[in-house]
Amino acid sequence: MSKNLETSSGSGENSAILKRVLTENWRRYLGSFAIGALLLALVSGSTAFTAWIVRDIVNDVFVGQDLQTAYLIAAAIFAVFTIRGLALYGSIYVLGRVANNIVARYQRRTYAHLLKLGVEYFKSNRSAYLVGQINQNILGMRNLLNNFVTVFARDLLTLIALVGVMVSLDPVMSIATLLVLPLLAFIMLRLVKRMRKVARQEVDLNSKVSSSIVETAQGIEIVKSFTMEEILSDKLYNLTRNAEGRSNRIVKISAKTKPPTEILAGFAIASVVALGGYRVVELGHDPGGLFAFLTAAMLAYEPIRKLSSFRVSFERSLVNARMLYEILDTPIKQGDLPAAKDLDLKAGTIELKDITFSYYPGEKVLDRISIKAPAGKTTALVGPSGGGKSTIISLIQRFFDTDKGKILIDGQDISKITAASLRSNIGYVSQQPMLFEGSIMDNIRFGRPDADDQHVIKAAKLAQAHQFIVEQPDGYDTQVGELGGNLSGGQRQRLSIARAILRDAPILLLDEATSALDNESEKLVQQALEYLMKSRTTIVVAHRLSTIRNADRIFVIDRGRVVEEGTHAALMRKRTGVYAKLHGIGFETIPANGKVNTRKKVSNG
Ligand SMILES: Nc1ncnc2c1ncn2[C@@H]1O[C@H](COP(=O)(O)OP(=O)(O)OP(=O)(O)O)[C@@H](O)[C@H]1O
Ligand SMILES: [Mg+2]
Repeated sequence: MSKNLETSSGSGENSAILKRVLTENWRRYLGSFAIGALLLALVSGSTAFTAWIVRDIVNDVFVGQDLQTAYLIAAAIFAVFTIRGLALYGSIYVLGRVANNIVARYQRRTYAHLLKLGVEYFKSNRSAYLVGQINQNILGMRNLLNNFVTVFARDLLTLIALVGVMVSLDPVMSIATLLVLPLLAFIMLRLVKRMRKVARQEVDLNSKVSSSIVETAQGIEIVKSFTMEEILSDKLYNLTRNAEGRSNRIVKISAKTKPPTEILAGFAIASVVALGGYRVVELGHDPGGLFAFLTAAMLAYEPIRKLSSFRVSFERSLVNARMLYEILDTPIKQGDLPAAKDLDLKAGTIELKDITFSYYPGEKVLDRISIKAPAGKTTALVGPSGGGKSTIISLIQRFFDTDKGKILIDGQDISKITAASLRSNIGYVSQQPMLFEGSIMDNIRFGRPDADDQHVIKAAKLAQAHQFIVEQPDGYDTQVGELGGNLSGGQRQRLSIARAILRDAPILLLDEATSALDNESEKLVQQALEYLMKSRTTIVVAHRLSTIRNADRIFVIDRGRVVEEGTHAALMRKRTGVYAKLHGIGFETIPANGKVNTRKKVSNG
C-alpha cells in the first residue's frame, strides 16, 4: 500500500514522512487495521455484489420471467445489506478507537519531548502558538493514518472489486472505460503540489489566531486597563481574515478535484452507454450484461472520486505530520553527556569561572563573569536592570549552556553532571512566581512530591503563607486560578517560597521579585526568605536593602560584568562606585542610629 503512494507522491520528502509515520505505527495498530480492513473489504464486496447481481435480475427475472430467482435474489440482497451494516459498524468502531489512541499517543509523546527541551526553546516560541500548532498537527496525523486505512481498505478494494466485475463482464469495454484514469491522476498531482504550500500557511495562521485569544485571556487586566480592546480586535480581525483566505484556498483546491472527476466520469459512462447500446441493439448482446456493467461503472466512480480527492487532502495531513515531526525532532540541548555522573554534593560551594554567555550569537549578555559563592553563606547579586543577574541564576541551573567558562559546584563542572542531580539539589524561587493548575496544596508540594500534608503545611507556615491560605474559600484545597490570578503578588511569592522551603535543598537560588509589595507583605516575604536562607549556600538577586545588607558578600553586576564586589560596608566606602550610586538613588538611606527613615527600592534593578 505504501509503495503505491510513495511512487505517486512525486516528492521524496513526502514519502519519507509517510514511511516514518507508518514504520512508527504499523506494528502497534496492525491488528486493529487488519480487522478494520477486513470489515471494510466486506463492505466493498457487498457493493460489487450489488453490481454483479444486476445481470441476473435483468436476464433471469425481467427477460427470463423467473419469479423463483427473483425471490432468491431478494433474500440474498437483504442478507448482504445486513452484513454490510454490521461490517460498517465494526469498522467505524475499530478504526475510531485507533484514531483516538493515535491522538493520545502523539499528545503524550509531544509533551514528553517538550519537557526535555531546553528553556531557550520556550523563550523563542510563544506557548499559546505552540499549543495551537500541536493540536492541529496531531489531528492531521490522526486523519493521515485513519484516512489512509479507510480509503485504501474501503475505496481501493471497492474499486478493485468493481473493476473485477467489469472485466469479467466485458474486458474490451472495461479498458475503454478505465482509460480516463491516468488522465485523472495527472490532474490530481498538480493540485497536490498547490495544497502542500497552502496547508502549512493555514496551520501557522490558525495557531496565531488561537494564541491571540489565549494571550488576551491571560492579560485581560492589562487589556482592559489600557483599553486595548480595539487594537486587539483589529489584530484578530486581520489574522482571521488571512486565515479565512488560506482556508478558502484549501476549499478551492479541494473543490477543484471535482470537475475533472465528474467530467471524466461522465465521459466514461457515456461511452459505456453508447458502446454497450450499440452492441445490444446491433450485435445482439444480452441486456443484463450491459446493465450490470453500467451499474459497476457508475458505482466505481464513487471510490474513484474519493481516491482522487483523498490524494489532495492526504497532502494536507502529510504537511501536519511533517510539522509535528519538526517539534518532535527539535534537538534536546543541555541534555546529559553520555558519561554524566550525579552531582556529589559536599559543602555546596558554587563557583562561576570566567563565564561568557549570549542568548543570540554576537550579543554578549555576560562577559567573563567570575563569582564565588561560599558554602552555607549568602551571596547577593545587585545591579541595574538588564545587567544579567537572572541570566546567572539560569546558568547555574543549566537552563542554557555557557559560551565560555565553567560553573563548578564543589569543584564539579555542572556541564558534566546529570541535570536531574544538579537541579534536585537546588531550591529555586523565580523572579515571577509561577503557579500551576491545581490546588494550593499541590502547588507547594511540587517542591517535594512525596511530602505529606503536614510537611506542606509546616512549609507554608514558615513561608508566612499559612494564614492567608486558611482564609481562602477551600483552604489548602483552593484551586489557584490561571497563573495564580486570584492571589496577590505577595501571596504568590510566599507560595513559591513555601515550595522552596519544602524542597529543603542545600543550594538556594533566589531571584527576588522586583514588583513592589505593600509594607506588610514585604515584611512577611522577608521573614520567609530569611528562614529559607539560613545555613544554605544562597545566591540571591537582591532588590531590597534588607536582603542586601544580610548578605555575606555582594557582587555588583552591570552590563554583563562584575564591576564591584565586597561587603555592604566595604562597598559603601567607595563613594564613587556603582554600588554607592545605586544606594544613593534607590536603596534605603540608613542614618547612623541604624533606623530606617525612608523606604525605597532600587527601581527594577
Ligand atoms: N531569554 C532571553 N533571550 C534573549 N535575551 C534575553 C533573555 N533573557 C534575558 N535576555 C537579555 O539579557 C540581558 C540580561 O537579562 P537578565 O534578565 O539577566 O537581567 P537582570 O539583571 O535579571 O535584570 P532585572 O533586574 O530587570 O531582572 C537583558 O539585556 C535581556 O534583554
Ligand atoms: Mg532579573
